Amino acid sequence: MSSRDHWGNKLGFILAAVGSAVGLGNIWKFPYVVGKNGGSAFILIYLACIILVGIPILMAEIYIGKKSQLNPVGALRFFQKGKIPFSLIGYAGVLCGIIILSYYSVITGWICHYLMLSFRGFSGTETEISEIFSHLNATPWLNIAWHTFVMVTVMLILVKGVRQGIEKASKILMPLLGLLLLVLVCYSMTLEGMKDAWHFLTYPDFSKVTGGSFLEALGTSFFTLSLGMGAMITYGSYLKGDVNITKSAVQIASIDTLIAFLAGIVIFPIVFTNNLEPSAGPGLIFKTLPVLFSKMPGGHFVALLFFSLVLFAAITSAISLLEVAVSFVTDEYKCSRIKAIIFMGTLIWLLGIFSAVSSWNVAGTPFLDLFDKIASCYMLPLGGLCTALVFGWAIKTESKYKEIGSSAVTKTLLFAAKYVSPLLLLVVFLKEIGLF
Ligand code: TRP
Repeated sequence: MSSRDHWGNKLGFILAAVGSAVGLGNIWKFPYVVGKNGGSAFILIYLACIILVGIPILMAEIYIGKKSQLNPVGALRFFQKGKIPFSLIGYAGVLCGIIILSYYSVITGWICHYLMLSFRGFSGTETEISEIFSHLNATPWLNIAWHTFVMVTVMLILVKGVRQGIEKASKILMPLLGLLLLVLVCYSMTLEGMKDAWHFLTYPDFSKVTGGSFLEALGTSFFTLSLGMGAMITYGSYLKGDVNITKSAVQIASIDTLIAFLAGIVIFPIVFTNNLEPSAGPGLIFKTLPVLFSKMPGGHFVALLFFSLVLFAAITSAISLLEVAVSFVTDEYKCSRIKAIIFMGTLIWLLGIFSAVSSWNVAGTPFLDLFDKIASCYMLPLGGLCTALVFGWAIKTESKYKEIGSSAVTKTLLFAAKYVSPLLLLVVFLKEIGLF
């Protein structure tokens, strides 16, 4: 395994992991899910999920990857004990990554389309602007063209390898993303709706919280931290030497949460200033925001900044999704990186066409929604549960102390990974499949 590519330094790893974590989940999903669930009460539940389940499992995944120096399938096989084939968890993870990237790339394609439109600026009546989205959806070739563009871009970045490709892209795109976000936050602060937005994000209204909110909070926290399918195992496997895993996990989760919160600070003042409802759903950034961009002073420029920001976030996440599949093929079948990228990239591109053609559906459910449901509601929580069980119960505590240390924080997180996270995940999973 000496030929394995590694991160140049610790900062490279953190930026790449944050790049994977910060994506459409933070900027597109988090604000609308918060809006739908009544604001800050939901954010509190979300924070609890990040601390009790997110950080412990993030730590588990990085540990499993770093210790084994292998892709998710090999890594879980490395910890095999008894007769249950742990590698199955890895296979399910690779499959899950393939499914997620197939539609993630289509949504990233929409962002590219909106970025192009922002160069011209959004104009027209409210209906006309929100019809851009329906028109895009009803034009399969356009969707497929953007999906192809995104997949090819991601493949080209990966061809360069871990250090020269992923790490370099993250080192350029993540600081840019931070800068764009700050500019947009400053802009939103000047808006009249900032006061309402701040109130909405910080004064908990528990009356809007339902049983479903807990499921949604856990699901969103899992998705946004890239957990449950081996992405962090893969990134952990490119680590070597002395790295404080606990500290890294806490840092990655904190930055990810901060960015989700800042995305809310950017979006909600715009929404409140224009007296709109924050609960617009998935169409929030594609239908609601462009209408607002067309009305506000300097909206043209803000739209450009905003869609660039989302695009950078989405690309670095897509990179991590493809890397899981690529590392699996290169490790397990000993084939070259280029061949693995072409094979997996093409496979995912083909699968993505099902989501790109929005009229194709299964009993009325479009493929994009179906794939998202299968992956994020079933496969991720189940994958996370199995990972937590392997980490908590099949690996000796002393080996963990040796690698991660035994500070009070680490011990608490190890306890959470062994008991709290699996239990919560089990409850969520059983609830999801309707068992109680
Ligand atoms: N975390 C990314 C987001 O928030 C999406 C993502 C990248 C992901 N890699 C993943 C989700 C692995 C689940 C698993 O948009």
